[in-house]
Order: sequence, then structure tokens, then C-alpha cells
Amino acid sequence: MTALQNPAPAKVVLSLTINGEPRQALVAPHRSLLEVLREDLELTGAKRGCDAGDCGACSVILDGRLVASCLTLALEAEGATLRTIEGVALDDRPDAALHPIQQSFARHAAVQCGFCTPGMVMATVALLEENPHPTEQEVRQGIAGNLCRCTGYSQIVEAILDAANAAPAAQTAGAPR
Ligand code: FES
Ligand code: FES
Repeated sequence: MTALQNPAPAKVVLSLTINGEPRQALVAPHRSLLEVLREDLELTGAKRGCDAGDCGACSVILDGRLVASCLTLALEAEGATLRTIEGVALDDRPDAALHPIQQSFARHAAVQCGFCTPGMVMATVALLEENPHPTEQEVRQGIAGNLCRCTGYSQIVEAILDAANAAPAAQTAGAPR
């Protein structure tokens, strides 16, 4: 006797705007936004660290809110506006120069292995848009969900404070066009 098997859930077309561009993917309902970004949409800037919401390496900005894309179902992003590290890096700069936040990270040696950096930068973008002039304590709170095993955080905090004091562009990183 043959056991009845549940059919695979039907895939659904996901449509959203990523870094100002309309994008679509055919996704199964159980897949995370991180998986779809990395495996279907060739946006590998968001990293898979813990896959459990603990490390922040997968951080993206979904409709203006910093989220862990590993804990977000891809279909939750239907119709949304998504910003990823790829958009911050480009951000209307035809010369492909790094964004001031990224430049500040480089100046302060806030990048070592670099695995946490995309998530740190996205958390910084979200922080500075909400609070353009954070105190050191507010910076530390702003990146509390992002783990770095290399730097000891001091250089990262210095880089963020420096970026906050720099050009106004630092507060509009990757904003939807
Ligand atoms: S991979 Fe998403 S929080 Fe760690
Ligand atoms: S630079 Fe290596 S984890 Fe942060």
C-alpha cells in the first residue's frame, strides 16, 4: 500500500522593489528572504551567519525597518521596498565610490574579515536615518543586534560616530530613489 504524500506547496510569484528596481522571483512559501536574495536574485551581500536571528549579518531594510532577512519569509516582502547593501554601495554614485559610511568603516579599520560588515552598514544606515546624531550609547544600542567576532566593536563605533558627523549624505544612504 502506498502512503499518501503531501504535494509540494505551490510556488508563488514574489514581486518587490529592491534598491529602486522592480524584481520578481518564483518562491516556495517556506523560503526566507535571505535565501531568495542570495540564491535566486544574486544579491549575496547579506550574509548567512547564524540563520537564527542572532548575528545580524543578514540585515536588510524592509519598508524602512531593519530586519533579519533570515527570519523573514520571502513572501512577507511582497509589494515591499527593500534596501540591501548592494544599493548602499551604489547609491547614485556613477563612479562606484564607497558610501561615506563605508568609507568611514575603512578609515577606522572597522572591517577585518568583513563578514559582519554588510549587516553593520545596514544597521548604521537605519540608525542614522532615524537618529542623525546619535550618542556613543545610542550607536552601541543601534548595532546591538549585529555581532562582530573580529574588531572588538570600538573601531565600528568610532566609524559610525565619524560618519554621523560627516556629510549629510551619510543620513540618506541607499534611500529609495
Ligand atoms: S543570519 Fe540572520 S541574524 Fe544571523
Ligand atoms: S570584521 Fe569579522 S566579524 Fe566583524
